[in-house]
This record gives sequence, C-alpha cells and structure tokens, in this order.
Amino acid sequence: MRKITILAIGDSADFDSFKKFDKEKRFISSKGFDYVAIDYKAIFKKCHLDVTSKKVIVVTFFPFEYWDKHVECKKYKGLYGNLLFLKKFSRFCDDVSSRVKDLLPGKEIEFVNNPKLTSAYRDKVVAMGKLSKAGVKVPPRINAKSVKGIKSLLSCGKKIYVKPRCGSMGKGITYLTEDRWQTNFTVKSGKIVQRCSDYGWKFKDITGDTKFLKSLVRGDFIMEEAVSPCNIGDNKIDLRVYACFGKVLYIYPRKNSIHAVTTNISQGGKGSPAILKKLPKATLDKVERQVRKTMRALNLNFAGIDVILDKDLKNAYVIDVNMFPGFPKRRTHNLARDIICQLRKSF
Ligand SMILES: Nc1ncnc2c1ncn2[C@@H]1O[C@H](COP(=O)(O)OP(=O)(O)O)[C@@H](O)[C@H]1O
Ligand SMILES: [Mg+2]
Repeated sequence: MRKITILAIGDSADFDSFKKFDKEKRFISSKGFDYVAIDYKAIFKKCHLDVTSKKVIVVTFFPFEYWDKHVECKKYKGLYGNLLFLKKFSRFCDDVSSRVKDLLPGKEIEFVNNPKLTSAYRDKVVAMGKLSKAGVKVPPRINAKSVKGIKSLLSCGKKIYVKPRCGSMGKGITYLTEDRWQTNFTVKSGKIVQRCSDYGWKFKDITGDTKFLKSLVRGDFIMEEAVSPCNIGDNKIDLRVYACFGKVLYIYPRKNSIHAVTTNISQGGKGSPAILKKLPKATLDKVERQVRKTMRALNLNFAGIDVILDKDLKNAYVIDVNMFPGFPKRRTHNLARDIICQLRKSF
C-alpha cells in the first residue's frame, strides 16, 4: 500500500467536526494512513509539518476562530451573511491554499475540497445557480426587485423563503406567505439588529413590516419558492445528506414542528434517524441521485447537503450545500470513520 498522510486542518474550538475527526487517529492509522493534525493559527506561524510520505490528502474544517474574529465579529456593522462576509473569507481561503503548498514543498497535495471553492459556494446564489444549470432539482428562484413585486406574488398564493446569500445555521431566515411574515432577524423599528450568538435566532411575526421587507430586497439575499415539505406526524422533515468522493455516506433526517420555519439543529430542529426507515427506498434513491449530481456539478469531494422531499415524495429538492457541515454525535453515527474509509477506497 502506498504511504499517504492525511493532514487535517481545523480549529481547536471546533467540537462539531474537527475534534470528532481528530478522535479517530487510531482508526486512521489502522487504515494504513499517516496522520497529522494542525490548527489554522499554527499554519500561519513558523511551523514544521512532520510529513514523510510523498502524497498528502488535506482535509480542512471550518476556521471558527478566524471567522469569529474577522468575518462575523462583534464590531461588524453590515447585515449577517452579506457579500462582504464572502470577500473576507475568500482571501483567507486563498491564503490557506497557498500556505499549505509552502509548508509541503515537493509533496503531491490533494485537497479533499479545494479551499478556493469554499468561498465561492458559501454564496447560495452562485451554488444554486450552478446546480440549476446542471439540472439538479432546486426550488425555483424568485427575482422580485421590489416590495410591490413580492406582495403581488404572495397575493397569488406563493410562499417565499428569503435567506442571506452567505449565511448558514438557519440564521437570518425570513418566511413570507400572503397573511403571515416571519423572520429570525431581530427587527427594531424596521431596522435589522443581529445576534452575536449562533443559537437562539427565534422567529417573530413581522407581518406588514414593509420597511423590513425593503431592506431584504436591497440586501444580499436569495429568494426562493418554499417547498411544501413532507410531514411525518406533527413534524416537517428534511434530510442532511453527507457525501464523499461520489458516495452517499449517511442520511440524517431532521425534524421540527410543522409550524416551524426551519429544521436546522442549531435553531431547535432535532435529528431523527428513525425517520429513515419510514421513507420508501425509491425516494431515498432519488435523494442519492440528486446529491451525487450536486457533488459533480460543484466539483466537491465532501459536503453536507440539505434535501427537502415534497408532500407526496415525488420530488427531492436540494436547498443548501455545506462544505463544512457539522457532524452528527459520534454515538448516533460515526461520520469521521465513514470519511476515512471512503478516503481509503479513493486513494
Ligand atoms: N425553499 C425552501 N422550502 C422549504 N424550506 C426551506 C427552503 N429553504 C430553506 N428552508 C428551510 O430553512 C432551513 C434553512 O435553509 P438553508 O438554505 O439550509 O440555510 P442555512 O444555510 O442557514 O442552513 C432549511 O433547513 C429548511 O428547513
Ligand atoms: Mg442548511
């Protein structure tokens, strides 16, 4: 077997994925890989990577500390998830890519996901646009340029999701129907004030707040038609699908009350593996096909993709692509081990 090193780059504060992966050191070595883990902070300092193999597979995790300090920082005055987020993040991702190459001269470096793609696909408009072009089923985009335009669509019965272009974790979501508008931004006299925390973005009724709606129309948001999701009992459900090198590794169903706007676990949704058994095989095959198509279209080798099934299970819509998805709890499903096995099969 050829000697290969897995280099994991992450943030020591990241219990959600990097730490879970790092706990599998022994498993990684049992699969015949060398393993080196390093913090983002360290790669930008004078450091030596103890890599003896010629080939290195680089797995990057979300740079929490950089993000909290420089992108979504306390003094940030702009709207959550706008394009300025992306500009700063792009520069950082490019720097990571070049820094890794500088630290490993003469090595054959293979990024699981090229850091340069990270910043591009953080923008939902870019990612969804590419998917739609590639024939992946995504919710229809709404191109209303004015409050009047949105109101007229609502009066025709359309239901609309408005999401920050570069947001995540279910933050800054607005849901509009003809007679009810809800958002989890905090709105004070029509002005948006945002939370510093990643959690507790609660939905409030803002029906008729035209000033707020105007700021959404002017801002960096993506608007799309709501998919009427499949419900099981009193819950709406969707699926977080993890895929790596062309293979679906794990499907993690999430549920929330039928009255809730989102299913994000960070905002109160719950993981519910038992739901999987209630879904017909043909439906799950459909989900897998859409996910594989998504990975090919975006040239990604690892992602957590959110998929919604519509009411009669006819269609599976891809609604969100995460290059740095949080991992399920290890005792629910050991995703890190799946990734490592898939890397072994792929290299
Ligand atoms: N078009 C849509 N139709 C139905 N539900 C949606 C739609 N878009 C988003 N949602 C709901 O909102 C949640 C958050 O949206 P998502 O696009 O995944 O953004 P984030 O990056 O914040 O997770 C989804 O998990 C889903 O529950
Ligand atoms: Mg999502």
